[in-house]
Amino acid sequence: MTGVVSYEDRLKGFDWSLGEKELGITKDGPINIGWLCTDRICRMGLGQKTGFIWEGSEGAVRTYTFDRLRVLSNTLARFLEKHGVAAGDRVCLFMDRVPELYIGLIGILKRGAIAQPLFSAFGEDSLKVRILDAETKAIITQRKHIFKVRRMRDSTPSLTHVFVVDGGAEGLKPGEYPLDLEAEPPVEEYAVHPTTAETPSILHYTSGTTGKPKGAQHVHYSVVSQYLTTKWVLDLKPDDIYWCNADPGWVTGTSYGIIGPWVTGTTQVVGDFGFSSDRWYEFIEKHRVTVWYSAPTAIRLLMRDGDAPVKKRDLSCLRHLCSVGEPLNAEGVIWSREVFGLPFHDTFWQTETGSIVIANYPGMVIKPGSMGKPFPGITATVVDPKTFEPITVPGRVGLIALRPGWPSMMRTYWRNPTTYQSKFKNGWYLCGDRASIDKDGYFWFVGRDDDVINTGGHLVGPFEIESALIEHKSVAESAAVAKPDHVNMEVVKAFVVLKPGFEPGDDLELEIMNFIRKRLSPLAMPQEIEFVAKLPKTRSGKIVRRILRAKEFGEPIGDVSTVMED
Ligand code: WT7
Repeated sequence: MTGVVSYEDRLKGFDWSLGEKELGITKDGPINIGWLCTDRICRMGLGQKTGFIWEGSEGAVRTYTFDRLRVLSNTLARFLEKHGVAAGDRVCLFMDRVPELYIGLIGILKRGAIAQPLFSAFGEDSLKVRILDAETKAIITQRKHIFKVRRMRDSTPSLTHVFVVDGGAEGLKPGEYPLDLEAEPPVEEYAVHPTTAETPSILHYTSGTTGKPKGAQHVHYSVVSQYLTTKWVLDLKPDDIYWCNADPGWVTGTSYGIIGPWVTGTTQVVGDFGFSSDRWYEFIEKHRVTVWYSAPTAIRLLMRDGDAPVKKRDLSCLRHLCSVGEPLNAEGVIWSREVFGLPFHDTFWQTETGSIVIANYPGMVIKPGSMGKPFPGITATVVDPKTFEPITVPGRVGLIALRPGWPSMMRTYWRNPTTYQSKFKNGWYLCGDRASIDKDGYFWFVGRDDDVINTGGHLVGPFEIESALIEHKSVAESAAVAKPDHVNMEVVKAFVVLKPGFEPGDDLELEIMNFIRKRLSPLAMPQEIEFVAKLPKTRSGKIVRRILRAKEFGEPIGDVSTVMED
């Protein structure tokens, strides 16, 4: 590739202040992601450039210039202000991938409020625990999801405002307000709230092994990491048309599905539709997508459908491909080289890291199956699980550890400093993943270091599933574990002990599956339920998911000395 600065050159004399300089910000001055993603781009003379091309599920296309994005996000910020949303209030975005979701995030940030994006497929329980935890003041949603919001309103006293982006005022109840951005008086100039580096920006909920989901709290200064990684890893350039598959309910969909492309003044396309190889290739061809950020599950689905749908299209527009969320199999990289003439570049990061921390860079030699090397400015290693000292032997597996202090690192878990502190050992932030580093400094992912289930790049906490399972009338006890899956890498499997009087059977299995799908989400729904007489437990009564999981994966069960005997 020509014109690519090598990874080694990027490392030399690297300092995060490079990002500050390019963005024209200082640590002590005002920094507002909403302003940087729209107003600054317009001031650079790019107001008439297309910033956003949106395609709905039925094929409708809407196009927005950066100036239009600027005015609409101003309008939204003013609307929130008029309704009493103050700086620091949490405003939840609970929508499919409609334009209001993208413009909404920018508008909330301009208001100085904290955006709390939640995946629209969440059911009422998943929604409720996150709204209760964040003490969210307002939620922006669509008609199709309002029934879930209504069901929890009596028990979420902080939630005083529900804004509905479609269908006008008809049928709305007290406390629900129509938000029609196109009908509101356009706000040409808006006094963006003077947020600074450490002002909270986005609260992204993520699941762990124990306890409720935790809100990773990010700040406006994160933009420095998001900006540089977008430029250097995703390689976005002025003429690119960029497509990120991720939903803004998850961190990839905000860091690189809103902030990254817009803060670099890049045109991005969004499709409000699910997976279909035909539709995806058609979308790339139609919009002339040049840079594509996808995920291993999607890549495996595309591989499954073979080369024929690719050959029907002219995909010569593509020039750079990246992937995130789960381990990218070597076969995926090799396949994409064959069919697109381009390898997928694996990138590793987390909700907590806010931006890519380990990656395969444009122009770097890719070792298929490896996650690549640390981003400049990121000190990454693997540490011994007992001593938390860095492992110096190439190929030896340890815990992925990062030296804290990069711009986009979460600042805490929302009102949960204890859990936040528990992530640090010996001065390292531990990601909760296992990996090894080879003699050339490439990282190789091994697996998670906890019981969290990664299904299609989405983390699901076993505790949340188990808590919902025991609410079903038939369930006495349960354990949710990962089960291997050839497309989604892992899916949820639940082991269930029934209450007396209930008989195991297919009908009950289906009923429980549906119960979880509705309460939590399709992702959290067990793909299989095994009814058992009892669960393996420690002497102190804790369920040992490790044993159940090992059986599913056909792995050795390991040390069971603390597990109760029959
Ligand atoms: C976890 C973070 C920010 C990405 C979206 C998910 C796993 C992420 C990779 C990769 C192997 C990966 C890890 C990580 N993961 N990227 N390239 N190879 N595993 O964000 O929901 O916070 O999940 O996803 O286990 O800790 P998240």
